[in-house]
Amino acid sequence: MAEHFDVAVIGGGPGGYATALYGAAAGLSVAVVEMDKVGGTCLHRGCIPAKEFLETASMFRHVADAKEFGIDAGSPGIDFSISQGRKQKVVDQLWKGLTGLMKRRRITTVAGRGALGPGRTVHVDGGGELSADHVVLAAGSVPRTIPGFEVDGRVVLTSDEFLALERLPATAVVIGGGAIGCEFASTMADLGVKVTILEALPKILPGCDREVAEVVVRSFKKRGIDIRTGVAVSGHTPGETGTTVSFGGEGETLTVDMVVVSVGRRPLSDGLLLDGVGVEVDERGFVRVDQWLRTAEEGVFAVGDLISTGTSVHPALAHVGFVEGIQVVKTILGEPVVPVDYAKVPWCIYTHPEVAFAGLSEEAATDAGYEVVVKKDPFAGNGRALILGEAEGLVKVIAEKDGAGRAGTILGVHMVGPWVTEQLGQAYLAVNWEATVDEVAQFIQPHPTLSEVFGETVLALTGRGLHS
Ligand code: NAI
Repeated sequence: MAEHFDVAVIGGGPGGYATALYGAAAGLSVAVVEMDKVGGTCLHRGCIPAKEFLETASMFRHVADAKEFGIDAGSPGIDFSISQGRKQKVVDQLWKGLTGLMKRRRITTVAGRGALGPGRTVHVDGGGELSADHVVLAAGSVPRTIPGFEVDGRVVLTSDEFLALERLPATAVVIGGGAIGCEFASTMADLGVKVTILEALPKILPGCDREVAEVVVRSFKKRGIDIRTGVAVSGHTPGETGTTVSFGGEGETLTVDMVVVSVGRRPLSDGLLLDGVGVEVDERGFVRVDQWLRTAEEGVFAVGDLISTGTSVHPALAHVGFVEGIQVVKTILGEPVVPVDYAKVPWCIYTHPEVAFAGLSEEAATDAGYEVVVKKDPFAGNGRALILGEAEGLVKVIAEKDGAGRAGTILGVHMVGPWVTEQLGQAYLAVNWEATVDEVAQFIQPHPTLSEVFGETVLALTGRGLHS
């Protein structure tokens, strides 16, 4: 007979393992079915390795810039196989930590590909079967590819293959200027690769505030990245070593060693649902859920990159998976839950310079019909930023105009510059707390810190800034 659990989770990425860890912490018996390694895309082929390589790039820049501080460290060179080894060590250590934690919480991990059958049964390829009172689908996503660009792992790569490279190319085309494309372009350019980004839309980082994206564009261009926007990629012709990519209306071409395709991700719902299961999947393959993350089948939930909430764009972010896992467990336990407001989740892009934001951009706020008051402050006037030698960037705060015509509730905070991913916390709090400018202006920012720029911007919104 199939072993029975309180909760069975299909997929052990951030959405799945958060469900399992939180559920087990609440005393539920939990099984996780995972076909590869727990930790999922984020740990093995996504966030963690990508940020590790960005840190390699940052180290390279620091050594190159050391002379400015009077330190003679010579000119940096790179052996990327060593960088790859270090990345793997970080990933393996986190993976060991996660598997150990899951064991200690008495979570049963079943190796294999899981599929949901009727009556909340989970069938594992190879013949295993289990059943549960509640099933959570957390199968995640895989890179999207484009016709004419067969992934061979040598000349044409997606993020999966890029993050396993042992050697960097001399030249590369990155197709798609979203978060992944820009992070890879930033890494490669700092490590000496000649990079061209080909983006179909009129600008890179299309989801970001315009002025924030412009700062990234300026920095990228200064570091030699060629950015071509509004271009359609039509195909490529492999040569002896690299390939020639064709793009644009006038049949432009570019010959490079490597093409990295980063045009988004698609949900991995193929084969996940067996006959007789009532879970609904939309035309793009996303599992449909309501705001409580319930599918159309009783007792079956879904979280993470796999889902569409139908109301707004569902961000494919690890931390969104974490919070959804927690919410599902609370719902199972009958505890009160505040559904995630997807328009206000924190976003962090770890390019150089970094980008971080929460809430509405100026354009989005205006499009949504808000009358806004906007202030921005550059890092160039900040002591800590000058000490670091990283003074490019700015903080921009968007507030709703109140009845008296003053800046009221904070609608969005958009940052670009040094360590902004680590500075977003208080901005996120302000946006999600629906705090006003007057309230946040009272926060004390330690001096000298980078976060003074956020404090100064909010203070300026009260009508009286200290420095601006
Ligand atoms: P994305 O959807 O963010 O960006 C893809 C880009 O490719 C878009 O700008 C799109 O206009 C462009 N594009 C699509 N088809 C194209 C074509 N044929 N030719 C040229 N350009 C084309 O997807 P991305 O960057 O692959 O990331 C996937 C997901 O991973 C995102 O949803 C994001 O949420 C998540 N992610 C987040 C990160 C972060 O927050 N730091 C880092 C990496 C990924």
